[in-house]
Amino acid sequence: MQSSTPAPAELLEIAVTVARQAAGTAQAMRAEGVSGVTTKSTATDVVTAADRAVERQAVAELRRLRPDDTVLGEEYGDSGAGATAAPGAVRWILDPIDGTVNYLYGLPQYAVSLAAEVDGEVVAGVVRNAATGDEWTATRGGGAWRDGRRLRASTETDLGQALVATGFGYDAARRTHQANVLVGLIPYVRDIRRFGAAALDLCLAAEGAVDAYYEKGLNAWDHAAGGLVAAEAGLRVAGLHGAAPGPDLVVAAPPALFDQLHDRLARLDAAGGP
Ligand code: IPD
Ligand code: CA
Repeated sequence: MQSSTPAPAELLEIAVTVARQAAGTAQAMRAEGVSGVTTKSTATDVVTAADRAVERQAVAELRRLRPDDTVLGEEYGDSGAGATAAPGAVRWILDPIDGTVNYLYGLPQYAVSLAAEVDGEVVAGVVRNAATGDEWTATRGGGAWRDGRRLRASTETDLGQALVATGFGYDAARRTHQANVLVGLIPYVRDIRRFGAAALDLCLAAEGAVDAYYEKGLNAWDHAAGGLVAAEAGLRVAGLHGAAPGPDLVVAAPPALFDQLHDRLARLDAAGGP
């Protein structure tokens, strides 16, 4: 890091301030009723006026507090200093509302997810459930936290006893592949949960509310902050066969479960398909 690059704790403080404000806006807009609903990649991939407004607000606030940083947001893409950032430059990765379908239906499982990345490595992250106010934070090397409580991964060691969260993309062909993977996996786990917000799934895994999580098709804004929270809680967060977590697959599991889940998912070609 450049000497001018703030420490992860300082970046986290900024992230928390911005995420709280953003979550407040999402919650206030939900209370007034969902508006401006349109679709993106498919007829079920919705975006609302709140997704856009929350992102605009968060980006404006980040640019006010950190004018030289870049921001990658789900709805408006890249903004700021440009793609060729100098070493030590900070890039913010934002999902203004993760769990937009839950937001649409009024299910209390949607979140603002904001991470700070330096030289390609996520160093700070916050996930705030906008409906409940629950908040998870982490800094690289500084642990994962919720309400002053340090988070630890589940101590489960048997995949057959593991509660595993996952999710599905918006494309029908991809979903079919994901459903087939699930059919092959479910006989070998305790049960499956599908809550509808990847960032929150990762945080639930971080606090042991589920034992593990996996999903294909995630974007950086879905897993940057939650992935750090999970990793700092002691989970292994990776793709298949040593790959980094990314669009092909994100697997988050305690070390004792990781290989068992990884090998099942590899056999089922979870990272393959459309
Ligand atoms: C989605 C949610 C969902 C996951 C999808 C994501 P969005 O994000 O995280 O749980 O299964 O893959 O795209 O569209 O609500 O921001
Ligand atoms: Ca989103």
